[in-house]
Amino acid sequence: MQSNHFKRHRRLRTSDAMRSMVRETKLTTDDLIYAIFVIEGENIKNEVPSMPGVFQLSLDYVIAEVKEVYELGIKAIMLFGIPKEKDKTGTGAYDDDGIVQRAIRLIKQEVPEMLIIADTCLCEYTSHGHCGIVEQEKVVNDSSLALLAKTAVSQAKAGADMIAPSNMMDGFVVTIRKALDKVGFEDVPIMSYAVKYASAFYGPFRDAADSTPTFGNRKTYQMDPANRLEAMREAETDIEEGADFLIVKPALAYLDIVRAVKDTFRVPVIAYNVSGEYAMVKAAAMNGWIDEQAVVMEKLMAMKRAGADLIITYFAKDVAKWLQ
Ligand code: PBG
Repeated sequence: MQSNHFKRHRRLRTSDAMRSMVRETKLTTDDLIYAIFVIEGENIKNEVPSMPGVFQLSLDYVIAEVKEVYELGIKAIMLFGIPKEKDKTGTGAYDDDGIVQRAIRLIKQEVPEMLIIADTCLCEYTSHGHCGIVEQEKVVNDSSLALLAKTAVSQAKAGADMIAPSNMMDGFVVTIRKALDKVGFEDVPIMSYAVKYASAFYGPFRDAADSTPTFGNRKTYQMDPANRLEAMREAETDIEEGADFLIVKPALAYLDIVRAVKDTFRVPVIAYNVSGEYAMVKAAAMNGWIDEQAVVMEKLMAMKRAGADLIITYFAKDVAKWLQ
């Protein structure tokens, strides 16, 4: 009776078919949101040096990209804009003819089925690179809110299906919710960057979006990576204020936070697989040090296992191809 002294876990791992029967987590293209950088100008397709395979695209290139993404089975994109001109108050963010607004209108016209999520922030549009209004080298909360709300309304007017505020000002969800409702956009959901850490993993994004702060850092508005309870407070207030989705960002080093948010709140949770996480995999893969496909699939599976309902990732197109 020797065999009864221990459990035979390997029984459930004997074949592909057996393993797929007992697989607890599934990753599909429905889980993916692809981020796209649109840049003002013409005939621009700049590969971001620290993000191989990711481009800044002018509007004349965007439609082909969105069609490709849609044909791969990805149903949602997140848009970031890079304007030609920046100023102290980030005017380009809430200009009805701004780069993101024009991109939204064009995509809605050419690929109407694609769900468009507008990242709502000021840092790509301000000359100082901060996510709000700066006075005496400080980012001021309440006056920044007004501009953020203006940005959200302008994006919704252009046709954005969802607003994703990311500047981490207090009260941004309720301010945007009220502003949207006031002009008849009560059906446009808010996907809040509720739990956004002041992370070194955003480095490559700031090259892509040209949004590195010219002085200081974002530690007075983004969260300290050491904190977990604070994440719960942030998530809680955003829910109270009317958030429909909660983003946790970055993803990989914060899977404990994804799980905690998922277990505590009853809204869909999104993990943002950020630029630095992308760059690290690409760099190692280009050196032949890791198997890119296997590593990416393992990472995204881990995000889902941690509780993410959706994943924003620069790997979305690759993953959709691998899943085919
Ligand atoms: C805008 C914003 C940032 C990212 C998403 N929205 C940059 C930042 O906070 O500095 C980072 C995304 C990434 O690293 O992939 N505030």
